[in-house]
Amino acid sequence: MIPRPENPLVVALDLSDADRAVRLARALAPHVGMLKVGLELLAAHGPAIVERLRSIAPVFLDPKLHDIPTTVERAARNYARLGIAMLTVHALGGEAMVAAAVRGAGQGAAEAGHATPLIAAVTVLSSLGGEGLASPASLAFEAGAAGAAAAVVSGEDVREVREVMGEEFCLVVPGIRPPGSNGHDQVRVLTPREAIEAGADYLVVGRPVTGSSDPAAVARGIVASVR
Ligand code: C5P
Repeated sequence: MIPRPENPLVVALDLSDADRAVRLARALAPHVGMLKVGLELLAAHGPAIVERLRSIAPVFLDPKLHDIPTTVERAARNYARLGIAMLTVHALGGEAMVAAAVRGAGQGAAEAGHATPLIAAVTVLSSLGGEGLASPASLAFEAGAAGAAAAVVSGEDVREVREVMGEEFCLVVPGIRPPGSNGHDQVRVLTPREAIEAGADYLVVGRPVTGSSDPAAVARGIVASVR
């Protein structure tokens, strides 16, 4: 992805309380590139929470779609109608499914008059160890061939995936921890600076920001550490 995003920070709003998510979003909006809405918030409040948040900051919607291509195409179309910046699917769903998501997202965004969201293919969850799983670089390559513009990769894999995918592909890296903070259930963690140096475009950070008594200050500190 050229140019690199002006602000690489994505904060994962992994909460169940919509009003708290909106309050956090307002506090964080000046300090983030995107806000990530994942399964927890989506399961609690559905598309309505996306519509509230998108007026505050660009929304990265992370339902990690994985189903037959027709179902994923229709789901991507409906999600893109909400006006989102990025949408995740599982790379393991295969090329036909990723291509279907790209088609559906393009159609939904056009119908609703929004910019088309980037489709980001999730390679390997950063809470899992690497044993016996498909190579993240080959999953990203297949997803890119199917039209995905981005991949979600762990910090451990980002350098290799960047080498395979070149500079134009967008890499999103979760499992990021500011120096000295709790790793929680993430097996593979990098600091923000390490991830950017390894080739990340976007850094996804959840609990170190949302669990802090001053989330905006933590977000500002992360962005400052990579500039
Ligand atoms: O709180 P924490 O910073 O660990 O949050 C990580 C976020 O990144 C969660 O929302 C999780 O769903 C997401 N994620 C991940 N590993 C991936 C893809 C997404 O941890 N491969």
